[in-house]
Amino acid sequence: MPRDANVYRCQQCGFASPKAGTCPDCLRGGAGYVQLVEERAAPSRGTRRPAAAAADRPRPLREITLERGDRVATGIGELDRVLGGGVVRGSLVLIGGEPGAGKSTLLLAAARALARVTPPVLYVTAEESAAQVKMRADRLGITADGLLLWAETDLAAVQAALDDVKPRALVVDSIQTVSLPELESAPGSVAQVRECGARLQALAKARGIATFLVGHVTKEGALAGPRVLEHLVDTVLYFESEPHHAYRVLRAVKNRFGSTNEIGVFEMGERGLTEVSNPSGFFLAERPAGAAGSVVVASLEGTRPLLLELQALVTRASFGTPRRTVLGADYNRVCLLLAVLEKRAGVPLASQDVFVNVAGGGRVTEPAADLGIVLAAASSYLDRPLPADLVVLGEVGLTGEVRAVAGLELRLREAAALGFRTALVPRGSLADRAKPPLEARGVATVTDALDAVLG
Ligand code: TYD
Ligand code: MG
Repeated sequence: MPRDANVYRCQQCGFASPKAGTCPDCLRGGAGYVQLVEERAAPSRGTRRPAAAAADRPRPLREITLERGDRVATGIGELDRVLGGGVVRGSLVLIGGEPGAGKSTLLLAAARALARVTPPVLYVTAEESAAQVKMRADRLGITADGLLLWAETDLAAVQAALDDVKPRALVVDSIQTVSLPELESAPGSVAQVRECGARLQALAKARGIATFLVGHVTKEGALAGPRVLEHLVDTVLYFESEPHHAYRVLRAVKNRFGSTNEIGVFEMGERGLTEVSNPSGFFLAERPAGAAGSVVVASLEGTRPLLLELQALVTRASFGTPRRTVLGADYNRVCLLLAVLEKRAGVPLASQDVFVNVAGGGRVTEPAADLGIVLAAASSYLDRPLPADLVVLGEVGLTGEVRAVAGLELRLREAAALGFRTALVPRGSLADRAKPPLEARGVATVTDALDAVLG
């Protein structure tokens, strides 16, 4: 394809072709026929990166020094944790989320905090007017001298203004609504998003600006625009919201400067976002006492233990195939665990409907919650509550064995801190351990566990 020939591009996945037609990748992927859109090829000069620093040649690793202060804490603890201890200067951070998740609210607060430590901070709002953002800032009580607000959609203008403003941090809200006038495609198109992303990336690196991009997600949950944006940036965070719940979870899905296992928890209220520094307490707040079918597990998100309440409801199926309904956990995993419970511990579930839910709209993704799911179902079937001060941990295998979990000590410490007195843990994890912070009882099989707490 000649360098400046037009291309036809899929606006969903970024597939490019020299000919018009539909996207073969999307068709194969089950998205149906997606029409390719003609795009003028980007002027090749525009894509070249600005000249890098003079030191840019191969050098021995030990000669490369890190500048101190390369990482700046934003002052919002939950955000800093997810970033890996603050934002790195010259890095590009993409924050994705559904409309209304609170991306603008979070970044306005982050911009305010950053403006205190490394002014000036430039907040480019391409979606809302400056007055709208000001109204929000007023409502949230945000005033900051080093924070500059600019309603602008032309990225070239933003680039030109950088010399003047010399921001240390930049927020672009959102990448889908800014555009480069020299490209003919519409804002939000693959060509624009990719080119704007590349431009911002080069600027961030060359000038050492910590840059945050807001990205919208499609209703399927993927970042709108090309996947290339995710490859381009250093860090991708998702701001997850569950409908009807006030809490928001910030999760790293890619991070060149830290772990991707960390989460940050916020609560959206009248006064904006507040950090939830004790999410376990938050998720357990409404836990019923002495109810059958409820159990608390300690899951580990990154380095942070999180206590969650699992609930199961087992009722006699009225007709036909019994139902299995699962919210907040993996459906297939729950079916597997119910089969183990039936076959290995003799709890007859074949004629029972089973509903499993993680209270508070939380989510468990770890096998360490297996034993909790099994015990919740058994407790509901037998209509016998589990001890209120009990926390349960363990992966369950197909033979009914209870397997070790990682990070046991961290989890038990969190449980003890929140007032739990006893724990049911895999026997294997208990063997070589210093005295646990609460009374821990080791079990080797599902039957052991049932005997231990349900009699
Ligand atoms: P916003 O940050 O505009 O979301 P996004 O930029 O991700 O689209 O947040 C919008 C939602 O948050 C909106 O539904 C209203 C709610 N909200 C509050 O409940 N309290 C507040 O103080 C603010 C600023 C927003
Ligand atoms: Mg917004």
